[in-house]
Amino acid sequence: MSYKLENKVIVITGGARGIGFAIAETFAAQGSVLVLIDLNQEQVERSAQALVEKGCQAFGYAGNVTDSAGIEELFARIVEKHGAIDCLVNNAGVTRDNLLIRMKEEDWQLVLDINLKGSFICTQKAFKYMMKARSGCIINIASVIGIMGNAGQANYAASKGGLIAFTKSCAKEFASRGVRVNAVAPGFIETEMTATLPADVVAGYAKVIPLQKMGSPADIAKTCLFLASDDSSYITGQTIAVDGGLTMR
Ligand code: NAI
Repeated sequence: MSYKLENKVIVITGGARGIGFAIAETFAAQGSVLVLIDLNQEQVERSAQALVEKGCQAFGYAGNVTDSAGIEELFARIVEKHGAIDCLVNNAGVTRDNLLIRMKEEDWQLVLDINLKGSFICTQKAFKYMMKARSGCIINIASVIGIMGNAGQANYAASKGGLIAFTKSCAKEFASRGVRVNAVAPGFIETEMTATLPADVVAGYAKVIPLQKMGSPADIAKTCLFLASDDSSYITGQTIAVDGGLTMR
C-alpha cells in the first residue's frame, strides 16, 4: 500500500532503536527521508547506516531532546540540508519506575524532562518550520499508562498523560496552520524497554489484554504511517491506543 510519503522528511527522536527505529524502517519502505535523533552519535549513525544499506535515505544525528538550544540548531541544520521537516515523531522516552513513597525527586524530574518537556521543545522548534510551510504532522508516542495509570510509574504516567493533553492543545493551536498533531498510545510492546520485565509480569499482562499477547514495534509504526499520511487528513488531536484492546472504553 502506498501512503504517498516518498521523499517526505520524517524526524524521529529516540530513533536509534526500539519503537523509534521500527517507525523509521516502516517509513523508509515508503521512500521517505529518515532523520534519526538519539543520544549516542555512534549508535544513531549505525542505525541510519543499516537503513542506507537497505537502499533507504536515512541520516543519524546525535541530539538530546532536553537541550533546547541544541535541538534548535539541529533542526535548522536538518531543514537546510533536507529542505523541510514534514513529520516529527516525538518518540524519545525513558522510565524510572518506583513506588511513589520511594521515588526520588531526580527520577520524577528526569522522566518529566525527557518524555514531556523534550516533546515540547522538539514540537516548538519543528512547528516554526511547519507553520511557514503551512503543512506538517506531529506524532507523539504516549503510552496506555498515560491513560490508565500504573502502580510504580507515577512519574511515567504523569509524563504520558501530560503528553496526551499537550497533543490536544497543540492540535487546536496548529490546526489553522495546516499542521495536525496526534498521539499513539502503545500498550505492552516487545522492546528492550520491556525486555527487563519478569516473565510472570508479562504473563499477567497477557491475561488482561483482550488480544492476549504483547504487541510489536511494527504495530506502532504502521499506525504512525497512517497518521502521517493524507489518509488521516481529517484526524487531529486524537490518541490512538495500539494495545490489543487493553484500554478500550
Ligand atoms: P527504548 O528504550 O528501546 O528506546 C528509546 C530511545 O530513546 C533510545 O534509543 C534512547 O537512547 C532514546 N532517548 C532516551 N532519552 C533521550 C533523550 N533525552 N534525547 C534523545 N533520545 C533519547 O524504548 P522503546 O520501548 O522503543 O520506547 C519508545 C517510546 O515508546 C517511548 O516514548 C516509550 O515511553 C514509549 N512506549 C513504549 C512501550 C513499550 O512497551 N516498549 C509502551 C508504551 C510506550
